[in-house]
Amino acid sequence: MTTYGARHVAIIMDGNGRWAATRGQPRPYGHRAGVEALRRIVRAAPGLGVEYLSVFAFSTENWKRPPEEVEVLMDLLVEYLRSEVDELDREQVKIVFLGDARAMPERCRREMETAARRTAQNQGLVLAIAVNYGGRDEIVRAVRRALANPENLKSLDEEAFGELLDTAGMPDPDLVIRPSGEVRLSNFLLWQSAYAEIYVTPVLWPDFDESELRRALEQFEQRERRYGGHA
Ligand code: FPP
Repeated sequence: MTTYGARHVAIIMDGNGRWAATRGQPRPYGHRAGVEALRRIVRAAPGLGVEYLSVFAFSTENWKRPPEEVEVLMDLLVEYLRSEVDELDREQVKIVFLGDARAMPERCRREMETAARRTAQNQGLVLAIAVNYGGRDEIVRAVRRALANPENLKSLDEEAFGELLDTAGMPDPDLVIRPSGEVRLSNFLLWQSAYAEIYVTPVLWPDFDESELRRALEQFEQRERRYGGHA
C-alpha cells in the first residue's frame, strides 16, 4: 500500500452539471453520479494515507440555483447520510460538518446530527462535509464568536482564531483538488488554504476515482513546499 504525504485533502466537487449535459441528462443525474464518486473517494482515501477529507457539497451561493435543484441536493445529502452512516461507522470514519447548519432544512439537520453523533468517537478518517458553507461566511461567524467573548480578544492570534472556525481541531488542508478544470477556490476553506497546494484536473467530479486521487497525491509529493520561506 502506497501512502502519500497529504494528511488533509479538500475537494471542490465540481462538474456534475456538465457531466450530465454530455449525456443529454438533467443536472440531478450528474449530482447522483457525484454522490457515487464521493462514496468511492471516501473508501479510497484512508488507504492512501489521507486522515482528513473535506468536501464542498453545498455553498452559501448554491441557494441561488433553481429550487428543484436545491431540493435534489438536500435530498441527496439525506440519502447519502442514511445509506452510508452504518458502513462509515464500521470503518471508523468520523463525520463532521462545516458551514452554517442553522439555515439547512430540518430533515437535513436531523440526519446531520445523527451522523455526527453516531460517529463522534471514531478514530479513523475525518470526513468533513461542507454544507451551506462559504469561506467568507465562516470567517465572519468566527469574528462574531470572538466578539461575543471579549476575553477571546486579548489572546487572539492566528492559532486562536483558527479554533473559532468550523474546522477547529483539524489541520489545514495540504492539498485542494478542483476537478472540471476551473482554477478557482470558490470560497472554499479560504483561511485554511493559505499554504495548500492546489491541484486542478479537467476530469469532471462524477468521473473522479481512486486513480485520479492517487495522481493528485503523487503530484503533491513532487511539489516542493516552502511555506513562504526559502528552501
Ligand atoms: C458542482 O457541480 C457541484 C455541486 C454544486 C454539488 C456537489 C454535490 C454533490 C457531489 C452531491 C451531493 C453531496 C452529498 C454529500 C450528498 P455543478 O452542478 O456546478 O457542475 P457544473 O459546474 O458542471 O454545472
